[in-house]
Amino acid sequence: MKHILCIGAGYVGGPTMAVIADRCPDCKVTVVDINADRIAAWNSGTLPIYEPGLEEVVNRCRGRNLFYSTDIPKGIREADIIFVSVNTPTKTFGAGAGRAADLQFLEKTARSIVEYAENDKIVVEKSTLPVRTAQAMSRILHSNTKNLKFQIISNPEFLAEGTAIRDLENPDRVLIGGMETPEGERAVEEIAAIYAHWVPRERIITTNLWSSELTKLVSNALLAQRVSSVNSISALCEKTEANIDEVTAAAGRDSRIGPKFLKASIGFGGSCFKKDILNLVYLCGHYGLPEVAEYWEQVVRMNDFQARRFVGNMLDAMFNTVADKKIAIFGFAFKADTGDTRESPARAVCVQLLEERARLSIHDPKALGNAKIDLADAGGDISYVDDPYEAARGAHAIAVMTEWNCFKELDYKRIFDSMEKPAFIFDGRNILDHEALYEIGFNVYPIGKKKRTHF
Ligand code: UDX
Ligand code: ADP
Repeated sequence: MKHILCIGAGYVGGPTMAVIADRCPDCKVTVVDINADRIAAWNSGTLPIYEPGLEEVVNRCRGRNLFYSTDIPKGIREADIIFVSVNTPTKTFGAGAGRAADLQFLEKTARSIVEYAENDKIVVEKSTLPVRTAQAMSRILHSNTKNLKFQIISNPEFLAEGTAIRDLENPDRVLIGGMETPEGERAVEEIAAIYAHWVPRERIITTNLWSSELTKLVSNALLAQRVSSVNSISALCEKTEANIDEVTAAAGRDSRIGPKFLKASIGFGGSCFKKDILNLVYLCGHYGLPEVAEYWEQVVRMNDFQARRFVGNMLDAMFNTVADKKIAIFGFAFKADTGDTRESPARAVCVQLLEERARLSIHDPKALGNAKIDLADAGGDISYVDDPYEAARGAHAIAVMTEWNCFKELDYKRIFDSMEKPAFIFDGRNILDHEALYEIGFNVYPIGKKKRTHF
């Protein structure tokens, strides 16, 4: 039986290892973390992250060939293959602050492997990392005095939150990068054999290490760029009465462009897009490519602009002041079907509204706990409300931040009747039936489409 260890029981390591355990009954998979509460949650009936389908997979495998533990030394000693999926946030201090990746957690992990390993191992980078991190990783691992050999593999994760299990079970591709040496190629093959339990061989791509590391950054940069491109055009649509959904639907019919990932919004969030682009920007600067760095940085600037523009539109519509007005925030997660709020544009919108002295009443079906943490330092008048009708009662406006399906099914007549008048809806995700809302009496402000007002 192969022993697989995953260090880091987060949004990436948790779901990925659950699916590997499910699909590879001939492997023993152990997931370790320094955070004992997180491990306790993985061992309990309430998993630490919300992800559709995850609970079923965990319940099938936990205790069979999937184990969660805080015993990192034992995990390392037993493992043949170690996946590293610790967090690599953007640095907040020192050189490269605000751009470069903070690799301290990764380095500590590598040092633990050096300390506890007793035989040769394959170490797989799962976390998103700057290009050439594998080199640093290799140097640390080979600083061991036990004459142990490690093969470093890059196997970036492309799962999206909310659809993680589906993405893992049926991936567009699995990417595995390794050293171009016979030992490197054998290690790549060993990792490929794990995925080959359920992924067709033609979808398993193998490359050199650096291409694999860079592909992760580039994939996220290209996706984020698409969202920023569409959002930039949404601003132009609002000025010209073009309709962003019509424009993207027609443009997306060109098979070279394609229909996916063209939805206008208040902006992209999530732990990856901004971090990875800033990482790319930092790398380009580091390698003396300022024009390339500026090009990609604009994707992040456009995203920040979209959230500011959204609040600007709210202020314009609401007679240039929201001071002391109650505003219901529908959704705080960075996208639907997750409780994750990392880099959620909802936070940027809320902070600006609080600066304008609005009173916020925030509702989200899964993310209220994280919203409280994210806004703990924001100050101002905020309430967190489980019931959307309660959140909207007495409000001057509703701002839709997340595309939760449940928001489409609410009784907006009932909501309208309970609100101050004139009542406004700012649909930051274009998910509601704007014509129906207008008929009820709302003043409706979509993204990238004509507003519908009664005055
Ligand atoms: C992303 C990548 O998709 C995934 O491959 C990678 O492994 C991690 O980063 P994730 O951040 O979970 O996944 O979500 P994703 O579905 O990509 O959405 C990112 C953000 O873009 C969300 O805030 C989403 O609301 C926004 N978005 C997405 C849009 O605004 N419009 C779109 O058309 C698509
Ligand atoms: P991601 O979205 O990349 O999975 P998360 O923050 O959700 O990021 O998860 C990363 C996990 O890695 C956290 O649970 C954190 O406690 C864990 N971690 C960080 N450093 C170490 C370490 N040195 N050893 C073990 N686990 C670690």
